[in-house]
Amino acid sequence: MPGKVDSNAMNRDVKIRKILLASDHGGFELKEEIKSFLTQNAVPFEDLGPANADAVDYPDYGAKLAATISADDSLNGIVICGTGIGMSIVVNRFPKVRGTLCSDLYTAKLCRQHNDSNVLIMGGRVVGKGLACEIVETWLQTAFEGGRHTRRLDKIDDIQNMLTKGEL
Ligand code: RB5
Repeated sequence: MPGKVDSNAMNRDVKIRKILLASDHGGFELKEEIKSFLTQNAVPFEDLGPANADAVDYPDYGAKLAATISADDSLNGIVICGTGIGMSIVVNRFPKVRGTLCSDLYTAKLCRQHNDSNVLIMGGRVVGKGLACEIVETWLQTAFEGGRHTRRLDKIDDIQNMLTKGEL
């Protein structure tokens, strides 16, 4: 089974939000694996596509997911393309989206603790299925630390607002 992670190991003290999933063809197979993992662990999710591994353009699916999360802070997301790079570029164009590319467990933990990651990004051609499921588990189970990290995230929002107004 994906990740061979004991479902009882999921820490229910951390608030688990509904997860939106999206990929391109390079991430399709891993997206299916992550869906099995989330189902096993009773984590609610919605798959925004694609529905098969036919070639598609990652900006279409990344933007669909990021636009929804940008407008609804009760949702988190997981997006996957071949390297994770294309999806990283597109989702982080959206206000209030903090997409973090992870291919190791340390980054998966720290991007939650320090960056309040709300979109986990992975490369379907970079990480194996077992590691990917452990990255998802770590990311889901780790809480934002707040404090000084809130100040830094607020500065990023300020920068984005200034850019929008042409002040930078
Ligand atoms: C598709 O071949 C590939 O370019 C895409 O999945 C992604 O890796 C782009 O960054």
